[in-house]
Amino acid sequence: MSKERESFGSRAAVIMAMAGSAIGLGNIWRFPYMVGEHGGGAFVFVYVMATLLVSLPVFVAEVTLGRMSRCSAYGSMSKYHSSPVWKFAGILTILIPTVIGSYYSVIGGWSLNYMFRSLAGEFVMNSPEAVSGIFAKMVSVTWLPIVMNLLFMTATCAIVACGVKIGIEKFNKFTIPALFVLIILIVIYSVTLPGAGEGVKYLLKPDFSQLDAKTFAYAIGQSFYSLSLGSGVIITYGSYVSKKENIFVSSAGTAASDLGFAILAGLAVMPAVFADGIAPGAGPGLLFETLPFIFSTMGAQAPVLSAIVSIVFFIAVVVAALTSCVSVIEVGVSFLLEKTGLKRWQASLILFAICGTIGSICAYKMVVLNTLDWLTSNVLLIILAVLTVVFVGFFLPKETLKAEFTNEGTNRVNVRIFPLIYFLIKWVEPVALIAIFVCNFIL
Ligand code: TRP
Repeated sequence: MSKERESFGSRAAVIMAMAGSAIGLGNIWRFPYMVGEHGGGAFVFVYVMATLLVSLPVFVAEVTLGRMSRCSAYGSMSKYHSSPVWKFAGILTILIPTVIGSYYSVIGGWSLNYMFRSLAGEFVMNSPEAVSGIFAKMVSVTWLPIVMNLLFMTATCAIVACGVKIGIEKFNKFTIPALFVLIILIVIYSVTLPGAGEGVKYLLKPDFSQLDAKTFAYAIGQSFYSLSLGSGVIITYGSYVSKKENIFVSSAGTAASDLGFAILAGLAVMPAVFADGIAPGAGPGLLFETLPFIFSTMGAQAPVLSAIVSIVFFIAVVVAALTSCVSVIEVGVSFLLEKTGLKRWQASLILFAICGTIGSICAYKMVVLNTLDWLTSNVLLIILAVLTVVFVGFFLPKETLKAEFTNEGTNRVNVRIFPLIYFLIKWVEPVALIAIFVCNFIL
């Protein structure tokens, strides 16, 4: 059984670690193309609302559950009720992150490869057409994505092996502020390009005629993915939050950083896309095909600046992906540490073997990657989120929950907002989540 549970050292450390999990490819790769495909500013508007009203209460529920149970996500629910449903939820908390970690590191591997290419100046030294074809070429060479995936996974597991305080906390505390600096530098470059104004307008000025049921379903789904909800990650990190910490403040701080970073990533990408006269709805290829194309066309006038921006950009992508991947691997490691006598480095090695193997299959066959992504983000994640809110709302005694959320009643503001949060968790979340689950199938 587990020894004394590690905790994060300070509030800043808690927010940085949770933000590290939240801020990732979901923000830099997925969010801009979702905006481009689902109605620009109107999508952004719904996304902001969804984060505040739908995702934040679930985030609070997960952190509270984690801190209360002080055990791995697997045992957090069955610790209080032994029914098979909560055992099943426990299994999902191991399964989902392990699967996400497996394919996520493949995309992390592509980003790593693009970082090396940008360092070699490849995007500015070739024609835009040649550069936008790099992606297809890269994935057709079987060994390259596999090697990159394993390299990325090695870095991830090495950080996890160092532990919560020394590995995860130290790494995130340094990288998250650095990521904000990097992305702000790119935003400054992007919004000052000639013709960039249209992109800024596209992103920030909602055209509500673009709204439909799909916009809502995708915006809520994206917000969930981006905050790493419904996967055991936030429950696990919650269990490392100290008993003195204010749960609401650290949850809201994390949601605000994640939201802010997504909008900054949109402002880094969209104005450049518009300045280059490209349609914004390029889909998942936006990051790996359209952006290098842009670096190349810009490179014709300002090669040095363009090369520097491409390097900074892909370093940011790799680092953001790494901090998220660390959080998913930590879930499995935390489970193994609790259930076996393994040492942390041994548990990390086991996760490396499992995720590295599944990831290599994904790197080899992209259809496996796409299927696992769809299955986890649109199906399993929502099922686990529904189970979690139902558990917290209906199966935990309200008073126990309140005591945990308000630090035994000492936190006045939390005492005051508790009824609202509780109402949202109990009555609004299950309905909203089941609605998007159904929409994902019929839309
Ligand atoms: N939130 C991360 C991102 O935006 C991805 C991620 C990490 C994740 N852990 C997760 C997504 C758990 C869903 C579940 O890139």
